[in-house]
Amino acid sequence: MRRIVFLGPPGVGKGTQARTLCARLGILHLSTGDLLRSAVAQGTPLGKSADGHMRAGRLVPDDLVLKILADRLAQPDAQAGFVLDGFPRTEVQAVALDGITLVDGVILFELPVQLLVHRMTERWFCPKCSTVYNFVTRPPKKAGLCDLDGTRLEQRSDDQPDAVRTRLATYQEKTKPLIEFYQQRGLLRKLDASGTAAQVGQRMRALTDD
Ligand code: AP5
Ligand code: MG
Repeated sequence: MRRIVFLGPPGVGKGTQARTLCARLGILHLSTGDLLRSAVAQGTPLGKSADGHMRAGRLVPDDLVLKILADRLAQPDAQAGFVLDGFPRTEVQAVALDGITLVDGVILFELPVQLLVHRMTERWFCPKCSTVYNFVTRPPKKAGLCDLDGTRLEQRSDDQPDAVRTRLATYQEKTKPLIEFYQQRGLLRKLDASGTAAQVGQRMRALTDD
């Protein structure tokens, strides 16, 4: 599989697994969340429109997300394959994706909700190089500082309890129906996302090695 969609709730480990899988297969890691956060940090018009939605834990409007997704997929480094991490998230996006590219498989990440909350509230990241840490499961060597460049780590604005609750509810309402959407197309493969990142990575390998 080289054209892959990652489907699953917030905090389940999509970004963590996408980085490893894409490095192994030499394909593009396309996270709409990362692209939007970078637009917010740069203060672009897109970033200004997206910021309030993201802070509150709501989805960014479909037309904005579809535009950045289509632009990124049209670039040369997407032609060898990709993991779409956090896209599609609504039925409108899923139908639009059908018109943009073929997909070989959809990996559904599954984890009990208490563990999701824990993974999000303990997450910190480096604002300079974007490395993601977890104070429980992947702590930095020196407290509060990035291992790679020593920058002070920060928390995502949407990892605060209120936004986390909204993100989980939004997933249930808007994104979960896509499980059925992709099951009907015969594309869905379920992944047990419990255990360490390395254990999940082993299961991922078994699901994607074809
Ligand atoms: P996005 O950035 O996509 O966030 P998300 O889907 O909420 O997912 P996360 O990034 O929170 O979690 P993840 O599954 O990547 O977990 P991670 O690997 O970091 O979207 C953010 C916002 O942007 C949305 O709310 C929305 O506003 C907007 N947006 C984005 N795409 C959109 C779209 N298509 N349409 C509309 N709006 C959109 O892991 C989490 C933590 O757990 C880390 O600390 C990590 O180190 C740790 N961890 C990972 N794996 C393990 C493991 N196996 N064991 C223990 N700890 C682990
Ligand atoms: Mg992510």
